[in-house]
Amino acid sequence: MKEQVDLIVDEASEVVTVAGDGPAVGAALDELHVVPDGAVALRDGLVVAVAVALRDGLVVAVGPGEELHATYEAERELSARGGVVLPGFCDPHTHPVFATTREAEFDLRARGGTYQDITRAGGGIFSSVRALRDTPRETLGKLLTDRLDRLVMCGTTSIEAKSGYGLDLESEVLALELLADADATRPIDIDRTCLAAHQVPPEFAEHREAYVELVTSKILPTVQERGLARSADVFCDEGAFTVDEARAVLEAAKALGLALRVHADELAPVGASELAGELGAQTADHLVKISDAGIEALVAGGTTPVLLPGTCFSLRIREVAPARRLIEAGLPVALATDFNPGTSYIPSMVEIIALACGLLDMTVAEAITAATRNAAETLGLPGVRGRIQPGALGDLAVLDVPNHLFLGYQMGWNPVTAVVKDGAVVWQRHDDRPALL
Ligand code: NIG
Ligand code: FE
Repeated sequence: MKEQVDLIVDEASEVVTVAGDGPAVGAALDELHVVPDGAVALRDGLVVAVAVALRDGLVVAVGPGEELHATYEAERELSARGGVVLPGFCDPHTHPVFATTREAEFDLRARGGTYQDITRAGGGIFSSVRALRDTPRETLGKLLTDRLDRLVMCGTTSIEAKSGYGLDLESEVLALELLADADATRPIDIDRTCLAAHQVPPEFAEHREAYVELVTSKILPTVQERGLARSADVFCDEGAFTVDEARAVLEAAKALGLALRVHADELAPVGASELAGELGAQTADHLVKISDAGIEALVAGGTTPVLLPGTCFSLRIREVAPARRLIEAGLPVALATDFNPGTSYIPSMVEIIALACGLLDMTVAEAITAATRNAAETLGLPGVRGRIQPGALGDLAVLDVPNHLFLGYQMGWNPVTAVVKDGAVVWQRHDDRPALL
């Protein structure tokens, strides 16, 4: 008598489990626990299937296909067609609630302008704020869900998502409400962050301290009271909030019981990483200009570095975060898209993995771990995610690549052929071309 399961995903060349407890650090970042253990087993010229069985939204078993089929009776089967099965990607830094794209700024930077020049001229975040405030709620909601569906098509099943293009009580609340609605209706889980401290809005330009006061005494308390966000974030950098302003925002957030995330030391070494570590922030993100003291502070604070190589690419910054030094320091490095209209219009974690290999000197295995298990550990979402092991959430990405090393090697098209969320197939590419080249 076979045990009943809901779904078996089989005929995979590899199941990349990234199995283990907690985040991976040091050499463990480079260990993916591939089934079958690194060697693709071949018989009669064919891949011996490896498979994943799922029931009630959770992973039940991982192993050779024949074994799983001998033990389990599946209501539905999904063939990986000789491709690779990975945990659904976790993207721990996104800004998906916005009204319009900003491709003209990308072109301006190619002509020599910098991100800071564009901000000073009233563009950048300010232009996204004007656009969001002028756009009806329904339109923003539709744009958001369409974008989230694209993220799912890229294999992403859990994200952290920020407000930050409203910069007043009403529109910050609106952005977080839209994220809560989308979380309930789309096949992607969303950990919400209030980023009211993204910029000082124009109406407060002459009295910055009054905006910090609005954030600390009105916006964050309202958001916390209404359960709209789990965390608060501050853009602490040149041309954004100073360390003192950021400290005021983060201390107020901490006192409210919110977790802390910080946009830290991307453009200049202002000491934001030191502040993040000192306050025990959950994550410090960007870190292109992090100092040695900043790295020590992250270690002391138990703060996860979230690296965003898409922004260095998009901003034409030739310097990148010191990923190797962060890994050597024993930090559980994570990767994210920073998906936003200004500095990283990149929805795909597969592309970010390739950029991390090419720009940050990470190995493919390290980058995969950073985009799944380590990213998941920064999301305060329930359940074990970002890995494939018994009891973990049944969130999978199926890719038409022959082995996982193709994730750094191949760029330029989306290799995701199917996505499983909570044990159900939520997206599948339909085309007749052979899955593998
Ligand atoms: O993470 N650095 C600040 N925030 C975003 C950019 C937002 C924008 O320019 O719209 C980032 O890169
Ligand atoms: Fe960001």
